Amino acid sequence: MTVIAITGSASGIGAATAQRLQAQGHRVLGIDIRGADITADLSTPAGRADAVAEVLTRSGGTLDGLVLCAGLGAQVEPASRIVAVNYFGAVALMDALLPALARGTAASAVVVSSVASAQLAWEQNPLAAACEAGDEAQAGLVVDAAGARGGHLAYAGSKNALTVAVRRRAVAWGAAGVRLNTVAPGAVETPLLQAGMDDPRFGQAIREFFGPIRRRARPEEIAGMIAYLMGPEAGFIHGAQFFVDGGVDAQARPTRF
Ligand SMILES: NC(=O)c1ccc[n+]([C@@H]2O[C@H](COP(=O)([O-])OP(=O)(O)OC[C@H]3O[C@@H](n4cnc5c(N)ncnc54)[C@H](O)[C@@H]3O)[C@@H](O)[C@H]2O)c1
Repeated sequence: MTVIAITGSASGIGAATAQRLQAQGHRVLGIDIRGADITADLSTPAGRADAVAEVLTRSGGTLDGLVLCAGLGAQVEPASRIVAVNYFGAVALMDALLPALARGTAASAVVVSSVASAQLAWEQNPLAAACEAGDEAQAGLVVDAAGARGGHLAYAGSKNALTVAVRRRAVAWGAAGVRLNTVAPGAVETPLLQAGMDDPRFGQAIREFFGPIRRRARPEEIAGMIAYLMGPEAGFIHGAQFFVDGGVDAQARPTRF
């Protein structure tokens, strides 16, 4: 039996992914702040360490898959919490669980980034240096000091840094025999998106924005791509980012890919 750990398993994309992978016969270890097999707060170093320890105990130290879905939207305050979960929470679990994945069978990991990761270039990302240095306090200061722009900066900046973190690990993870990719969704109908649409600052812009495919995605449409990337047909796909965004990235940046 294959064992796959999924963060953010209690809701939205993570829940749809857990359901799909369970239906395929995998054993899923869900991790979330509530309503999961493993309860942990991925915004703190202690919560991340608890999550890792519990995954290792319950899996017997061998994992065949990892899906990192847990995340917060741009409306969450303070903005530093967005960076803590979306970047530092994801990177901490990725790095700590690589040895367990390396012991697995044809192991693979998928990290859920966002189409927002491409909204700013790495060279212009004000969080880049702090994220790469692992300096969580400094990254938090940058976004908390940005005032009204802080939430959007925290979201797009943390997802940009997360996609870069995955791509930077392609060589080491390839050598360890573990595939690692990102999925970059556009707007998906989940509680996270709903909270953004309900926010007086961002709500109208989110509600009115549609890409070339003029609707929002269902969580199952993202889960389908994640499940494909986790599976044997994706055996040569590594270090790549897949936009599942209804054409938003192509519309915004037709010459950049
Ligand atoms: N919904 C969208 O439009 C959209 C678009 C692009 C990317 N994404 C990304 O997809 C991922 C999943 O989001 P979703 O839309 O399914 O949202 P969601 O709110 O339905 O699910 C996110 C899950 O993460 C969990 N989580 C949040 N903070 C946590 C913490 N501190 N510790 C542990 N778990 C925590 C939540 O409890 C929740 O179950 C996120 O990383 C999000 O940034 C979503």
